[in-house]
Amino acid sequence: MTTTENPLLTMIREVCALGRVEFERPHTAEGDPGAGRALVRGLRAVDPGGEPSDISLSLGLLAPRAPYFDRLVLAAIAAQVPQVVNLGAGYDDRALRFRRSGVTFFDLDRPGIIADKVRRLAATGTDTRHLIPVGLDFRTDDVAEALARAGHDATRPTLFLAEHLALFLEPDDVLALLAGLSARAAEGSTLALTAEVHPEGLDSDRVVSVVDQEMFGGGGPLHTIQARDAWLALFAKTGWTVEDPDEVTAVGHFALPVGGQVVQIQTQFLTATC
Ligand SMILES: C[S@@+](CC[C@H](N)C(=O)[O-])C[C@H]1O[C@@H](n2cnc3c(N)ncnc32)[C@H](O)[C@@H]1O
Repeated sequence: MTTTENPLLTMIREVCALGRVEFERPHTAEGDPGAGRALVRGLRAVDPGGEPSDISLSLGLLAPRAPYFDRLVLAAIAAQVPQVVNLGAGYDDRALRFRRSGVTFFDLDRPGIIADKVRRLAATGTDTRHLIPVGLDFRTDDVAEALARAGHDATRPTLFLAEHLALFLEPDDVLALLAGLSARAAEGSTLALTAEVHPEGLDSDRVVSVVDQEMFGGGGPLHTIQARDAWLALFAKTGWTVEDPDEVTAVGHFALPVGGQVVQIQTQFLTATC
């Protein structure tokens, strides 16, 4: 199914893509440190009105987030995990920066984005033999089937990354995604995900609605913000065990009035094993 994309999601993806290449990032010996910049050449982040968007807004979020996921990829490679699945990869260049013999990267995103990424990669001339691009829609496609079709090996360990993805999916689709990944996760697999978290005791639908109105003028790109306990329960229900559940690693995302009090919404980084 092809559907028109919410223009705010387009803008946020582009802001992330342009923001992340502003940082000095690690790479493997076989990796391509310049790939990220080449990949986003000519990309412009514009808001739904066609005006240039301010990428500096993303930098505070990316500063802790991008290195967190980078470290996990480097640790997985060092531990000889042979597969890295990047869910909602957008224009992320990890498959190229962290190229390593024996490691296959799968980049999953909407078909149009994957097609554009493939075109851009071809234009840069970089080696992509170890990268399998997979176009799909997490709202309608079964991630486990898509991975099986793409050649992912469910008998070998995988690092699954879902960086800045879950908030754009409905809670039921996040549930289906985590369950589908668990079905593909051999022993030794890890899932790392950014979770939008509101304080306990608030109604999640109300929080999503206030964030949408206050931050996006009712534009509706965000769908899943939950209390931490609800996230932990979701992981448990889908077969994932969160590492260090009492230790919160987070960056502040929004501070907004909900029901007369200012509420801090965090992006928390959760890592789980199967
Ligand atoms: C904000 S971007 C983040 C991209 C990258 N992970 C990063 O952190 O820079 C979210 C990505 O998730 C993808 N995405 C959102 N909803 C999706 C869906 N229903 N199916 C497939 N991909 C989706 C978007 O296309 C986009 O590339």
